[in-house]
Amino acid sequence: MAADVRAGLSRPFKELSPRYFYDERGSQLFEQITELPEYYPTRCEREILVEQSDAICRAANNPATLIELGSGSAAKTRVLLDAMQCAGCLETYVPVDISEEITRQTAEQVAAEYEGVNVRGLVCDFELDLERIEAGGPRVIALLGGTIGNFAPQQRAGFLRRIANLLDRDDRFLLGTDLVKDRATLEAAYNDPAGVTAEFNKNVLAVLNRELQADFDLDAFEHVARWDAENLWIDIRLRSLAGQIVNVKALDMQVPFAAGEEMRTEISTKYARGGLDGIYAEAGLEITDWYTDSEGLFGLSLARARH
Ligand code: TRP
Repeated sequence: MAADVRAGLSRPFKELSPRYFYDERGSQLFEQITELPEYYPTRCEREILVEQSDAICRAANNPATLIELGSGSAAKTRVLLDAMQCAGCLETYVPVDISEEITRQTAEQVAAEYEGVNVRGLVCDFELDLERIEAGGPRVIALLGGTIGNFAPQQRAGFLRRIANLLDRDDRFLLGTDLVKDRATLEAAYNDPAGVTAEFNKNVLAVLNRELQADFDLDAFEHVARWDAENLWIDIRLRSLAGQIVNVKALDMQVPFAAGEEMRTEISTKYARGGLDGIYAEAGLEITDWYTDSEGLFGLSLARARH
């Protein structure tokens, strides 16, 4: 974290990695975001899972194992687990998340709710430790919620190639992708009037204050989220309201911010089906099944490795 934050704060265009959003407070705030009326991705993805879980289960060869990357509270995952249990194939659930508190909670709750199912929570950065995961097949590796949208293009390419390498013949990759749509709908999802999204975005500064003994003043920054129609992503930033110098003690750094300067905290890429086909092909993956919600706002794809 120290090296990563140092690099991000040293660049002319400052940038922080979104992985630091999700401490205990951040995970709670994100759960609140998913309940906002403007934040359609969660309810659309849930609708798809409710409507299509049985079909997904069949198309994925009645998997014995569900490995969920970035599982969080796994609220939507229950629907898929139910379908697997109904089909009589569910043996193992592996929630993988960077937040220890929420992974522990989720693993314990799922273990209590699904009798006889082997639940093995894993606390790690799934970009680094994917290969640590082993469990009986057929397996589904799931990345829901549009998290893939938060990867930079190169980072995404490397991640998908590793997924392709992990998949045996009958295994499938289940990916949630938010879809390209009109600017107003997209920007509203990242600028709620209640200010939950702003609080979530600024929470990353509180994490840096705690973890790296920094002295960011959360009130001296404001939340910014804009649709970038060229890159097809929402560009999420924190804008410094005044000229200021932030001390980051653990890094022995003084970081100057100009008035109005923006620091990127996340991108949230949106996809079209055709674009996704191309991205998958480059990684050695191919879509076998494609599902959307009734409004066509969000997509779920099932893919296999082409080797
Ligand atoms: N992965 C979520 C998304 O891209 C995270 C998110 C939602 C988010 N709202 C945010 C991240 C606001 C930063 C700021 O949709």
